Amino acid sequence: MAACGQPAGPDLSVTIAGVLFRNPVIAASGTFGYGREYAGLLDSSRLGGICTKGLTLHPRAGNAGTRIHETPAGLMNSIGLENPGIPAFIEKELPALRALGPVVIANLSGSTVEEYAEGAALLNGTAIDMIELNISCPNVKAGGMAFGLEADAAALVTGRVRGAAPDKPLMVKLSPNAPDITAVARACVKAGADALSLVNTFKALAIDTRLRRPVFDNQSAGLSGPAVRPIALRMVWELWEALRVPGASMRAVPIVGMGGIAGTEDALEFLLAAAAAVQVGSASFANPRAMTEIIDGIAAYMTEHGLTHTGELSIRESQVIQQF
Ligand SMILES: Cc1cc2nc3c(=O)[nH]c(=O)nc-3n(C[C@H](O)[C@H](O)[C@H](O)COP(=O)(O)O)c2cc1C
Repeated sequence: MAACGQPAGPDLSVTIAGVLFRNPVIAASGTFGYGREYAGLLDSSRLGGICTKGLTLHPRAGNAGTRIHETPAGLMNSIGLENPGIPAFIEKELPALRALGPVVIANLSGSTVEEYAEGAALLNGTAIDMIELNISCPNVKAGGMAFGLEADAAALVTGRVRGAAPDKPLMVKLSPNAPDITAVARACVKAGADALSLVNTFKALAIDTRLRRPVFDNQSAGLSGPAVRPIALRMVWELWEALRVPGASMRAVPIVGMGGIAGTEDALEFLLAAAAAVQVGSASFANPRAMTEIIDGIAAYMTEHGLTHTGELSIRESQVIQQF
C-alpha cells in the first residue's frame, strides 16, 4: 500500500507456470549455492527466485583439476555438478533455502533418463516451487548436455520428468550448443515443459601455453559472462518468435532469459525481448549485490517510462497466436 499522497511503485511481480515471483530476477543455478553461501553479502529475501546448484539423485564430487578460468569478459567453468545428492538437499538445504522467501527452483540433472525421473519423483513431494530440468550442462561426460542437443532425447527426458513430478511446474533449461535449439525447445514444450530457460554455458576451450595442454582436464568447459550476452539475447529473441509461429500447434510457454547479465541495462534487454524473467549467474561472483541492484534498476526504469507492471516491458507483439 502506498503511503498517503505518494504514488505506488511499479508492480514487479511475474507469474511463470502458475508460480508467482515477487520480481523477475532469479539467481542462476550453480552460482548461488543453496542461498546460505551469500548470507551477509546481499539481502537474498529480495530476490524473485533462487535456482539451486544442479542436483543429482546421488552425491557427486564434481570434476578434478582446474574448475574456473577467467577469459576476457567471461568465465569458463568445469565444476561438473558437485552436489550432495537430492535426499541430502531435501533434508539439509531445503528448509533454510525455503525460509529465505524467494521462489525455490530445484535444478535437476542426471546421467540417465531413469536417474532424472527418480530425482524428479523425490522432488515432487517437497516444498520446492518449480523444477528446472538441466539438459544443458556441458561439463559432465554422461547425460547433462547430451539430452539437450537433440529434440528426441530432450523430449524423452522432459516427458519422463513431467510424469514423475506431476505436482511441480517444469522449466527446461536449454543448451546454446544445440545445433537446432528451436527444434529442442518445441520438443520439450510438446513433452510437457511449462516454461523454458536459456542459455546454459557455451562449450569452449582454453589452452595453457606454458604447460602446453588444455587448461581443463575435460578439455572443454562452459563459457558464461558478458562475452556471451548478445548471443544469448539473440537466442531468446528468436525462440520467443519460433514458439509463436502461426499454425505451429505449440503452447507459447514463458521464456526465462540469461547469459552475461551483470547490470540493469543487460536485464532490461532480455525483458524487452519478451523474457518473462531473467537469471543472473557469473555476475554475482564479482558483485554479490548485482541482483538487488538490478531489481532496483528495473523499478526505476519502469517508473521513468511510466510502466506499472512488468508485463508492459516487452517490446514484442504481445498477441499470442496459438495458446492452448
Ligand atoms: C560456476 C558455474 C556453475 C554452474 N552450474 C550450473 C548447474 O549446476 N546447472 C545449470 O543448469 N547451470 C549451471 N551453470 C550455468 C548458469 O546457471 C548460467 O546458465 C550460465 O552461467 C549463463 O549465465 P551467466 O552468464 O549469467 O553466468 C553454472 C555456471 C557457472 C558459472
